Amino acid sequence: MTDRYAVVGNPVAHSKSPWIHAQFARQTGQAIEYGAILAPIDGFSRAVAEFRAAGGRGANVTLPFKQDAFRFAARSSERARAAQAVNTLVLDADVPYGDNTDGAGLIGDLQRNLGYDLAGKRVLLMGAGGAAQGVVAPLLEAGPSRLAIANRTARKALELAGRFPPATGGSYAELAGEQFDLVINATSAGLSDELPSLPRAIFAKGALAYDMVYGRDTPFLRVAREAGAAASDGLGMLVEQAAESFFIWRGVHPETAPVLAALRGA
Ligand code: ATR
Repeated sequence: MTDRYAVVGNPVAHSKSPWIHAQFARQTGQAIEYGAILAPIDGFSRAVAEFRAAGGRGANVTLPFKQDAFRFAARSSERARAAQAVNTLVLDADVPYGDNTDGAGLIGDLQRNLGYDLAGKRVLLMGAGGAAQGVVAPLLEAGPSRLAIANRTARKALELAGRFPPATGGSYAELAGEQFDLVINATSAGLSDELPSLPRAIFAKGALAYDMVYGRDTPFLRVAREAGAAASDGLGMLVEQAAESFFIWRGVHPETAPVLAALRGA
């Protein structure tokens, strides 16, 4: 039987993961099948347990289940524990194992696809939800001179930063007068065409604005471009985190550049 994998989410029909993993499989000559599972909002564990019982070897986990997946995994990686969230499940072990490749995906996209060196940079991370939590530790490891976390609910940014010194956390208003070389939007504001209340002069000369959302031009990216910053959506992060998951399951690194180029062309 062909080894089976799937992405689990709600909604999940829009997911590009089945297509991306099919490209990786073809490219590396791995015989896998990769589907999509729509789990009920309160039925994540059951859906994954059923998939595992039916022979499913691994799963990617997307919104809104990354915290459920963290609880589902009996063992987990250090980076999954730091993020308190799991986007990659290994199901063909004695007990389900959870990992989180989102941070590696972001750093991989910045470094490999965008040629961006984080060392010594002033970095602002917007948001304090699941998407932001997964990338704080990997960002710090890349050696920025400063990492600030801002959130609409300032208390959540303070709490998140408190877990990752020397990161600092607070409200957007507190950033007035400061400038950053890299501003990463890890909020879901763009999905409803909204913009966090970012001070307008936040972008340093030559700054890069990065929105983890993909497939739409968000108000954040528009404002950044108007301010003279370079702008990138999160499509590259999606492909890079998928490649990292593929490596965890299959032990081979697929090439991401042709897959990203094909997605951009489509
Ligand atoms: P995710 O897992 O995608 O991060 P989440 O945990 O619901 O989802 O977090 C959503 C994030 O987007 C939060 O940081 C949220 O800010 P609050 O903590 O203040 O709710 C942020 N967010 C969502 N809509 C926003 C908006 N219109 N303006 C600013 N921040 C927004």
